[in-house]
Amino acid sequence: MTAGADSNELILGIETSCDETAASVVAGGRRVLSNVIASQDDLHAEYRGVVPEIASRAHAERILPIVRRALADAGASLSDIRAIGVGHRPGLIGCLLVGVAAAKSLAWSLGIPFTGVDHIHAHLYAGCLDAELAKFPALGLVVSGGHTSLFRMESPTSITRLGGTIDDAIGEAYDKVATVLGIPFPGGPKLDKLATTGNPRALDFPISRLGADSLDFSFSGLKTAVLYAVRGVPSTHSKNPAALAPTTASSADVAASFQRAAVRAVTIKLERALNFHPDTRSLLVGGGVSANSLLRTELQAFAAKARIELRLPALPYCLDNAAMIAGLAHHILSQRNWTSDPLSLSADPVSA
Ligand code: KG4
Ligand code: ZN
Repeated sequence: MTAGADSNELILGIETSCDETAASVVAGGRRVLSNVIASQDDLHAEYRGVVPEIASRAHAERILPIVRRALADAGASLSDIRAIGVGHRPGLIGCLLVGVAAAKSLAWSLGIPFTGVDHIHAHLYAGCLDAELAKFPALGLVVSGGHTSLFRMESPTSITRLGGTIDDAIGEAYDKVATVLGIPFPGGPKLDKLATTGNPRALDFPISRLGADSLDFSFSGLKTAVLYAVRGVPSTHSKNPAALAPTTASSADVAASFQRAAVRAVTIKLERALNFHPDTRSLLVGGGVSANSLLRTELQAFAAKARIELRLPALPYCLDNAAMIAGLAHHILSQRNWTSDPLSLSADPVSA
């Protein structure tokens, strides 16, 4: 049984897997009553990346005030909460532990069940928030700072991985290319904006395809190609020190050309996955990079051509958030008659 439209149990979601401290109250698995996200971007900007120790300390300081605010925004109190869902994998271990400890102690003190939720599976569920449940079987695509993976979904909780990145995640490539162009961390959204003003055909960056049947992704070659274009190709021959000169193309042209190659690398794999699974009825997309303007346009074109329904989450649900955790927790818990995970459940840095 999955959550019915008439089911109104309130679930408290907690998310601390990376650098966002988030809590949310969701009714009946889909209706979001509150969605509080405290970003730590300001704490990590000077290091141009997330510093795990700083992130977990900030989670520990913020988690209870954020939970209180999520309850207040929802007009609920702790006694109204039926169960707790917490993102317990994958992610930075010290960060995950803060959320897991908070969820376990709250659930134990309230005498209510709790469940661990896979952060990646929750990203796939984000498109079902404040909406009808998607049609299954579905293809699932997660594009974020830490992940780029394709899934086959029989339901919100029955998920098989079809492929994933063999090196960098797409968001990581966006952030690193942004750094090369002098855009401060996290540069993905600013690079997206800059790209809209450039010529996507100015530079011919490589589009990774891998093997003919591969559903995996690779972005490190593209990232290096951008680095060499912007800084010039370093020569390995001491007798021929003249390296290839940096491009004269503008930053906007580099950004647009990079974005064209990165997004095409994703849609090629979607086309392949659809060929392997022609019974697919919808495409569920999640993760921070699903906020990307070109990717959104291309996904819409792909879904229209394939005649499948596209579930692109509303922007607040694209980034790390706890509403997706609470929503999926409802399905997990109702499937197992609201029995709790054991208090021995721990955090896990990798996906199952
Ligand atoms: O899902 P998310 O919040 O965190 C992870 O689980 O990784 O995704 C964050 C990533 C960052 O790499 C950020 O630069 C990227 O999503 N991002 C974007 C855009 N908005 C966020 N990348 C490209 N275009 C965007 N508009
Ligand atoms: Zn994420």
